[in-house]
Amino acid sequence: MTADAIKSMKLYSQVDRVFRDLRAAGIADDAPLSVDQLSQFDQYHYFGTEAVEAAIRHAGISPASHVLEIGAGIGGPARVIADRSGCSVTALELQPDLNEVATSLTARCGLSERVDHACGDALTYALPDETHDALVSWLALFHIPKRDRLFARCHATLKPGGVFYAEDLYKLGDFTPEQHEQLTQMVFGQSMSTEDEYVAALKAAGFADVRFDNRTASWTDFCVTRLAAYRAARARHLSIHGPAVVDGLTEFYQTMVDLFESGNLGGTVVTARKSG
Ligand SMILES: C[S@@+](CC[C@H](N)C(=O)[O-])C[C@H]1O[C@@H](n2cnc3c(N)ncnc32)[C@H](O)[C@@H]1O
Repeated sequence: MTADAIKSMKLYSQVDRVFRDLRAAGIADDAPLSVDQLSQFDQYHYFGTEAVEAAIRHAGISPASHVLEIGAGIGGPARVIADRSGCSVTALELQPDLNEVATSLTARCGLSERVDHACGDALTYALPDETHDALVSWLALFHIPKRDRLFARCHATLKPGGVFYAEDLYKLGDFTPEQHEQLTQMVFGQSMSTEDEYVAALKAAGFADVRFDNRTASWTDFCVTRLAAYRAARARHLSIHGPAVVDGLTEFYQTMVDLFESGNLGGTVVTARKSG
């Protein structure tokens, strides 16, 4: 997969906008940062740091843990994991511009020794066998085709007893042609499977204790609130980012509301464990 096609999703346009947000908050480009100062800008998933802290608890991540995050974005979750737990994280991200922003923000947070940003495709990037205590991911796996291959690689890189924890999108009902178009173009959904298909793929890869938790209702509410808040602050956003970013994000946030409210798109937290 190339890193260009995914740019059809407006969330990934002008990702250096985080620096404009920080400047607008009075934080200069070379100023040190804390993870908490960043968290309103760098979490590209639902329910921010709370969602990441739930994963830390579930996976029992401790200072000795080595964690792999697939689809790390601009590094928000990886920094929260390292900051809260003291563990080391490999943060794998497909898009070079996001990975560059992530690396720079992590350095400013003083976390470069604990968060290793790697740029590559989860389907091909070299992942050593049995080296990770936990594999975590927020809203990234639906972007990745060849799910069987992806889950086999996730299984192989976990240590025996290692934990898989993913927040992801899935298929609740049959998408209309218009929804299919929105999903493939604006959301870049490459693997939209049903709950049964998702669970079967994890089991086929060798995972045990698979648990699939439907979060669609709370994620729909989150998206409705996010869209309303973004619209209400449009003047502020326009003055900082300009119309291309603001119109692109508004369209993306509206699309997510429409897809969730249609009843055909679902949101889930999926957990599993490698036996051993
Ligand atoms: C919605 S963002 C979430 C980012 C981050 N997990 C967060 O919650 O802030 C999903 C990320 O997955 C990345 N991604 C998509 N396909 C990937 C692949 N094949 N390998 C690695 N990363 C990928 C995208 O580039 C994007 O940055």
